[in-house]
Amino acid sequence: MSAFKITENTWWVGALNPNLRVFDIVMSTDYGTTYNAYLIKGKDKTALIETVHDKYFDVYLDNIAEIADVSKIDYIILNHTEPDHSGSLYRLLEKNPNLTAVVSQAGAIYLKNITNRTDYNTMVVKDGDKLDLGGRELTFINAPFLHWPDSMFTYDPANKTIFTCDFFGAHYCEPYIMDTKIKFDTAYKRAFKGYYDAIFGPFPRYVAEGLKKTESLDLDYICVSHGPVITKDGVYKFVRDCYEQWCSPQQREKPTIPIFYTSAYGNTHALANEVMNGIKSRLPEYGVHTFDIIEHPMAELANAMAQSEAFLIGTPTINKDAPPPVWSLLGHVDAINMQKHPCAVFGSYGWSGEAIPAVTERLKTLKLAVFEENCKICFVPSENELKSAYEFGQRFADTLKK
Ligand code: FEO
Repeated sequence: MSAFKITENTWWVGALNPNLRVFDIVMSTDYGTTYNAYLIKGKDKTALIETVHDKYFDVYLDNIAEIADVSKIDYIILNHTEPDHSGSLYRLLEKNPNLTAVVSQAGAIYLKNITNRTDYNTMVVKDGDKLDLGGRELTFINAPFLHWPDSMFTYDPANKTIFTCDFFGAHYCEPYIMDTKIKFDTAYKRAFKGYYDAIFGPFPRYVAEGLKKTESLDLDYICVSHGPVITKDGVYKFVRDCYEQWCSPQQREKPTIPIFYTSAYGNTHALANEVMNGIKSRLPEYGVHTFDIIEHPMAELANAMAQSEAFLIGTPTINKDAPPPVWSLLGHVDAINMQKHPCAVFGSYGWSGEAIPAVTERLKTLKLAVFEENCKICFVPSENELKSAYEFGQRFADTLKK
């Protein structure tokens, strides 16, 4: 797709990737994505905002060439240095070694390890710093943990435009740049929610701060780095309202303790039920429920885990290990916000039961507070073993009593 004019002296020069189905190894992208980058011209200076994934560098370069001579561009502003935005910087520097990379302090450090170069010009900017392009003065706004420590926004008051990189973004691709052209509104909204959950869900406090920092700005355009450019006449109100709601503390009817398990022959399932009954006997005011891991979408399980007061994992042992669905769930533990979160592990096994210590170790590595006891039963639990699972649930519940 060609360069596209957004507003006065501001162009989209990014790339579309409609066929992408998995982003960053773990994130499904049913509607593809875009790598948005922008070019803005002042009377004296020209700046790019973000590069693109390096596979799309040639498209990016062609789009830039429609607007400006790449060798004469002065700045490359990187609001966030994850390689989908900075990954082709090294190639851009080959075309224009005089470029100055404008980044936050953290971004400057990451960039050196991403480019493996130190021989380029860097301008480190702090919150409130300004950059004059000639008749257009850009302001930088610190936005840490949205979603990396390096993140910042770039505000262009002359054009009522803010460049927020991932913030308000979505992995969504139609052959249009502006939100007013979205043809599949429901699909966009689904992608927008999925993106928030995966990228910003772990950082609600920082999302609230990001919203606060931008609420008083006079904005017609939010130039995100994935998905459609957001406009006042388009989804502006929708995206702000969604973020406001999603980052607010969730009101729960009662504290919850989900018990995630998987079970080939019903033995770990039987233990899960007894553990649940044991916990309920001690904490009747809690919502305690079992979830067969293979019967629920991973996002639902991850959300139940993140919202929980504590959780348990019941795992059989297959091939001296926990089966893949258990590891998949462990891959969704929010390691940033769940440190010291109470959890416990149990399961039935056939020969030696390696899954239980393996899962326990994994949870400890993530710095969760793992209950020191396990409930580990060989093959089919007897009446006595079911009773011991019940009591295991009780003892775990007792550690949660305030
Ligand atoms: Fe689109 Fe955090 O990179």
